[in-house]
Formats: sequence, structure tokens, C-alpha cells
Amino acid sequence: MSTLLEARGLTRIIEGEVSTTLIEDISFSIASGEFVSVTGPSGGGKSSLLYLLGLIDRPTRGTVLIEGLDTGTLESDALAHLRLTTLGFVFQFHFLLEEFTALDNVMLPMRKLGVLSNQAMIERASELLAQFDLAPHIHKRPGQLSGGQRQRVAIARALANQPKLILADEPTGNLDTRNADSVFAAFRDIVNNFNASVMVVTHDPDLAARADRHLKIIDGHLA
Ligand SMILES: Nc1ncnc2c1ncn2[C@@H]1O[C@H](COP(=O)(O)OP(=O)(O)O)[C@@H](O)[C@H]1O
Ligand SMILES: [Mg+2]
Repeated sequence: MSTLLEARGLTRIIEGEVSTTLIEDISFSIASGEFVSVTGPSGGGKSSLLYLLGLIDRPTRGTVLIEGLDTGTLESDALAHLRLTTLGFVFQFHFLLEEFTALDNVMLPMRKLGVLSNQAMIERASELLAQFDLAPHIHKRPGQLSGGQRQRVAIARALANQPKLILADEPTGNLDTRNADSVFAAFRDIVNNFNASVMVVTHDPDLAARADRHLKIIDGHLA
């Protein structure tokens, strides 16, 4: 398997009266098509690490390479484009737009990229939603869906522009076991059928064990 993402000596320090080290010297790789889970105590730096890998935050030292490209060399416009085309995000709160239907929510990143025609966007968004058992719900708004359905819409939206890596930060934190199960089934589906990698932070050891590989972050370090 080829390396999709490589973290090299990632360190993130917040400077202040007392400086805080969020992440210290973390190095690892994610292969394409790999499903990686991340656990660790609260406040240990899991979200901070995801922000660095997701090119949302910049490291103090070290760098993130994506398909061999050193993202530390990129200006913010190029970073934003790389984020939009290569990465997809799923958070604990779904962040779907309440006044939009599921279909329109999934089409948003496609509109932002501006490559497909409207008809092609509708078709792709419908197919993605159907893939996650949401075909009967595409014209519903988030408020009319269950928690698990909303997260699966958020996953479909994360896949809109055919990303190579999905980063998910406690996506099942608000879900009951059955809904959490459907979300993890969706991640497994992504690595098996969408040719993408998944990195998911979770508190649930049973869910973490369903990934191909498991990382633990303690006190800003890779354990
Ligand atoms: N912008 C920031 N400024 C100062 N401290 C921060 C900032 N962001 C996060 N932290 C602190 O860094 C630590 C790691 O946070 P976080 O990455 O959210 O951990 P986790 O996701 O594992 O719970 C926590 O102690 C948190 O309070
Ligand atoms: Mg967190």
C-alpha cells in the first residue's frame, strides 16, 4: 500500500505567558485505503492532532506530507484547495445546515469546488446518500432525521469531492450504540469501496478495535 499521509515530527506549541505544548514530536504514516482509529484521555491532544493533519492548523515544528507533497511549503490558498479536494471532515456535531435538505447539504462542497454541472452534482449527491441507506431521506432536513442518519449525511458530505482521507473527531460521541454502529459501518464502507483512508477519534474501545490500526495519544505524544 502506498503512503497517503505522513506526519513528520509534528509539534504544536501555543505561545503565551506560559506556553502550552499540545502535540510533541509525533511521526507516523497513513497508507491509502487504511482505517486508523485514535484513542486517548480527554485533553491529550487528539483534536489538536486532527487539526494539524487536516491542514486547519499549522505546526510549530515538523510537517505533514500528503502524497509526498510537503504542505508546510504551501500558501493558504493552496492549502485550502488541497483541503477541499483531498480531505473530508466529520465532527461530533454534524454541522449540517438546518434550512437545507440532506441533498443540498451534500452538494455544498461540490458547489464550492465548482467542477460539476448542477445535474451531475444532484446525481452524485443522491448516489452518496443512497450508499449510506439514506435514499428515502434525501429531501428531508437535518431536523427530520435521527442522529445516526444526520452523521451519515455528514459522512456523505465529507465524501462529496472524492477525498483521499476522511478525518473524523468523535463522530459517535452523541450517538447510541445502534447509530454509532451505523457510522462505523459507513467508515468501513469508505475504505472498502471508496478507495479512501479514514482516521477516526473515538472514546469507545470496541469501535476503535474495528479499525485496521489503532493509535493512542497521551499528553501530546504518540504512545
Ligand atoms: N488554542 C488553544 N490554546 C490553549 N490550549 C489549548 C488550545 N487548544 C487546545 N488546548 C489544550 O490542549 C490540550 C489538548 O486538547 P485537545 O487536542 O482538544 O485534546 P483531546 O481532543 O484529546 O481531548 C487540552 O489541554 C486543551 O485544553
Ligand atoms: Mg477532542
